[in-house]
Amino acid sequence: MANSPRCDSFDRRAFFRTSAAGIAGASLMGMTACSEETDGPAPDRSAILPDTPASPTDEAWAPVRAHFILERGTAYMNNASLGMPPGIVAEAVADGYRAISTEPLHGKHDLQDQIAQVVLPTLARTFGADVTEMSLTRNATEALHLQSLSLALSPGDEVLITTQEHPAGHKPWMVRATRQGITVREVFIPSPLVSTEDVITRFAAEITERTRAVAFCHVTRGGHRYPVRELCAFARTRELVSLVDGAQAVGQFPIDLHDLGCDAYSASMHKWMFGPVGTGFLYIRAGARDRFIPEFVPGPATTGAEYAPPGTADFPVRAALATSLAFVERIGLENVEARCRYLSDYLKESLSGLDGCTLLSGPRERSAPGSTIFQLDGLNALESVPLLEELARTHIDEHQRDGHDAIRVSTHVYNTRTEIDRLMEGLHAARS
Ligand SMILES: Cc1ncc(COP(=O)(O)O)c(C=O)c1O
Repeated sequence: MANSPRCDSFDRRAFFRTSAAGIAGASLMGMTACSEETDGPAPDRSAILPDTPASPTDEAWAPVRAHFILERGTAYMNNASLGMPPGIVAEAVADGYRAISTEPLHGKHDLQDQIAQVVLPTLARTFGADVTEMSLTRNATEALHLQSLSLALSPGDEVLITTQEHPAGHKPWMVRATRQGITVREVFIPSPLVSTEDVITRFAAEITERTRAVAFCHVTRGGHRYPVRELCAFARTRELVSLVDGAQAVGQFPIDLHDLGCDAYSASMHKWMFGPVGTGFLYIRAGARDRFIPEFVPGPATTGAEYAPPGTADFPVRAALATSLAFVERIGLENVEARCRYLSDYLKESLSGLDGCTLLSGPRERSAPGSTIFQLDGLNALESVPLLEELARTHIDEHQRDGHDAIRVSTHVYNTRTEIDRLMEGLHAARS
């Protein structure tokens, strides 16, 4: 793997001794694990993590960018679909597999320990939750199914969702509607959002005496940021359960789940959190466990882990989340937010000079920092995706929904203004 030393033989003991050194050590276990001596204290590998950037500029983030192993010349601006882990995360996955292949029995136990003792506590701390409220999933879709399918409901009960849900936030409710006679109603939410009051008023107007729960995105696929705290507080006043899809929110800005006040929250770790592909989490608030019936244990859930499918899991992938979390902790989510905003502000400013361009992202308080959507007269969004790859070697996505034929550009910390300039040239060329 580029940027990372290779080795011929793998030293499992050194590998896990390193990870036991704590989150900074654990985060680096993939980098040089195989060259370690088997005895002696674990080395301090914290120098391999990037320094915390001092400002949002490209210069300040260049050392962070250097951690990503994307092929040279390609600009990746489709993070809202799938993000990119840094090289050390890819190495951590590889080393986990090496550990389990070299010594399956101990390798498995060591990886399980890593997940229980490092990954889950760090995850809980990062997102302001208790460790017993968290469980790991393969992605947000799995978590959304677990939270929606486990909600205690009776035939005739109603659930309100919005017109902006991802299929993963929609399908599990269709299952319940079809099989159990639950009424699912969609609250129309305009794109872009109008205001916090408007969102709440639209929900309030749809509530009936049979309504039991509200489910909505923290950030939609189009990058619209919902007033989650306010909506959850509103739901509580009506004694409704609140279920949130955080797939697009987690990793773009700091999130404190207890402060948000939701009852359930589902997220991806492989979009904005630098996690390896196939990682996500489910949060069920401890005080809300009586509202969610676990699928996999006979009685009421006593811990969040009981909501997740049991059995052998992709331990090397999950254990590598220790590395992603250490990386995020080092650069700081508030700095990620500022950096993402810095880049999307520059993109928006550049788009404002483009004839026939309509920006569809809302203002700061109602938009995610990293995702920008816009329509361009004379350019079909679906066709723009391969065109931009061909003309500017830049990956973007279409957003043909919510009544738009929009292009979505989702920039993360490793993108640069130069790449945005190249995207703009590509957009000009694509239209001509
Ligand atoms: C809003 C939203 N929810 C859920 C998902 C599903 O996420 P995952 O791919 O992790 O299952 C996505 C993916 O794009 C999304 O944008």
